Parts: sequence; structure tokens; C-alpha cells
Amino acid sequence: MKKVLTYGTFDLLHKGHVNLLQRARELGDYLIVAVSTDTFNALKGKASYTSWEDRKLILEALSCVDEVIPETHWEQKVIDVKEHDIDLFVMGDDWSGEFDFLQEYCEVVYLSRTAGVSTTKIKEDLKVHQLIS
Ligand code: CTP
Repeated sequence: MKKVLTYGTFDLLHKGHVNLLQRARELGDYLIVAVSTDTFNALKGKASYTSWEDRKLILEALSCVDEVIPETHWEQKVIDVKEHDIDLFVMGDDWSGEFDFLQEYCEVVYLSRTAGVSTTKIKEDLKVHQLIS
């Protein structure tokens, strides 16, 4: 069984997330999604609209996602790859090259991002909408 691992916040789940997760799953047989916890996001200076528990619930409802685990710090990737016996690490190409050090432990692939959508853009668009409605 080929196991795939990816990371992200996945706040306000959108088409770009689903495209990434479906393609990641198609590259293997079992997809684990490590989701940044609210505490970890706070350390990064980010705040998600949806709580970690709810982001987990939503991701687990997708047929392409087999398991959701917490991402709590930057250094856990090597540990996760070893502990979960990962064959392939996948990220969007906004992270291109950043995780090449994992090639020592598994295959590393960067998938192209879906153009025109992001959590940040959704938040900005909703702010504008609120101003005019
Ligand atoms: N992703 C993607 N296409 C998009 C947006 C995100 O393929 N249009 C991918 C990212 O490359 C990453 C994963 O989805 O591998 C999770 O990204 P995340 O940072 O949670 O989503 P963003 O929409 O980029 O969030 P933000 O705007 O807060 O950075």
C-alpha cells in the first residue's frame, strides 16, 4: 500500500484544496492530511475561521482523505514520515523545494496550485462583500 502525506491549514475548504487532495490521493492508496492546529497557526501569526476540530471533521468527510492528524510544529515532518511509514510527501507548488530534505525518507512531489482561489482571497472577498451589501 502506497501511503501519501500532505500538510496544510485547509480553512474555509475550497476548490483548490479539493483539487490538491484528490490528486494527492490518486498518487497512492492512503492519504494522511496533517492539519495545522489552532495553537500552531497562532505561532505562525495566522488565525483560521474554522476550528481545528471542525477542519478535521470536514476533511474526514471527503472520500479522498483517509486520515487526519494534527500538525503542531515545524519539525514534525520527518517524525511523521517515519511513524506513518510514508512513501510519498505531497505539497502545492507554492512550497516548491522547501521540503526536498524529506527525499532522504520518501518521494517528494509538488503539485500545481489551482489558480484564482485561496483562503486569503475568500476572506478578502467576503470583507468587500460585507462593505457593499
Ligand atoms: N492549495 C492549492 N491551490 C490553491 C490553494 C491551496 O493547491 N488555490 C494547496 C496548497 O498548496 C497546500 C494546500 O492546498 O498544499 C493547503 O493550503 P492552505 O495554505 O491551507 O490553503 P490556502 O488557500 O493557500 O490558504 P491561505 O490563503 O491562508 O494561505
